[in-house]
Amino acid sequence: MNTKVWKVDKYVDNLENNPQVVDAAHFLQENEVVALPTETVYGLGGNAESDVAVEKIYAAKGRPSDNPLIIHIGDKKQIHAFVREIPEKAELLMESFWPGPLTIIFKKKSGVLSHKATAGLDSVAVRMPDHPVALALLKKCQLPIAAPSANSSGKPSPTKAQHVIDDLDGKIAGVLDGGSTGVGVESTVLDCTEDIPVILRPGGVTKEQLEAVVGEVHLDAALIDEASKPKAPGMKYQHYAPNAPLYLVNGSKSFLQSLIEERQNEGLRVGVLATEETVEDYQSDVTISCGRRDKLESVATALYDTLRRFNQEKVDIIYSEMFPNTGVGHAIMNRLEKAAGNKIINE
Ligand code: TXA
Ligand code: MG
Repeated sequence: MNTKVWKVDKYVDNLENNPQVVDAAHFLQENEVVALPTETVYGLGGNAESDVAVEKIYAAKGRPSDNPLIIHIGDKKQIHAFVREIPEKAELLMESFWPGPLTIIFKKKSGVLSHKATAGLDSVAVRMPDHPVALALLKKCQLPIAAPSANSSGKPSPTKAQHVIDDLDGKIAGVLDGGSTGVGVESTVLDCTEDIPVILRPGGVTKEQLEAVVGEVHLDAALIDEASKPKAPGMKYQHYAPNAPLYLVNGSKSFLQSLIEERQNEGLRVGVLATEETVEDYQSDVTISCGRRDKLESVATALYDTLRRFNQEKVDIIYSEMFPNTGVGHAIMNRLEKAAGNKIINE
């Protein structure tokens, strides 16, 4: 299949009638799959009402079919077609954070969405992305769009159209290239089917921000204790992994430097994921700054691109600094731990 690339300037007016957006919307209506930029990462969109389209999403990504997809909408009103009830707390959160990087899990109304999109569950994950191109496309096609991150399953999520092409060229109908995404880590997945909302996946909206709107919010047990089974099926898989083994280093710069030297003495080419504050301090083969430690949002924005850059640099092993587990740091550490398969070296 020839994968089309539609370049779109996200700042132009009247995006809904932009020829590239109109073309991509037609493909979605024909049950083809199309990658689209969102404010978090690129998504691989398909008609959530169609088994055919949803099967194409799973096939292109090589995604296990027991891992449900997030349904993207361009207008809050769409939700009533496939959600059984909207709890009061969810209503407040939608008002505060939509459009934006918050996915809410509701009880599902059956018979509307492809059961494959929700992996047969009786709940459904929904979000309204805060990106002008995504919103224009969603409004134009007038469909609920199922969209996982547009990477091959297991790889780092795409934050640039080129990442999508690197993984999925020839496997999807097209990609709308709206430039780099902003937030950089995926949406927060919040289960609102119970009285006290539960974070199943930390993301772009922090626990602190959620609690400011609805009071107490819990963390899924699996986010605290590795042995617990996660409630979001996708959280049990290894994810975001660069080609070389990644280790998180819990210690000083001099400790990390000693690890670099040990591996270099064994003949390995060593990569280091550092920050603006520390990038000059390591003597390694490839040291990449992932942003400013005193501005963790910048680390989130650059995280997946940095992990992919180590693949181009063909390193044999990667050592990463660690980050505080607060605010968006919670999502950064969650993704790094998964990318590392939980390999942490303590000083
Ligand atoms: O920022 C994002 O959320 C991006 C962009 C493209 O919107 N999408 C994304 O989708 O990250 P994906 O498929 O990579 O991750 C969806 C996560 C998975 O961990 C999945 O298991 C969970 O949401 N999920 C989806 N539906 C669920 C449900 N009904 N119950 C529990 N977890 C669910
Ligand atoms: Mg994903």
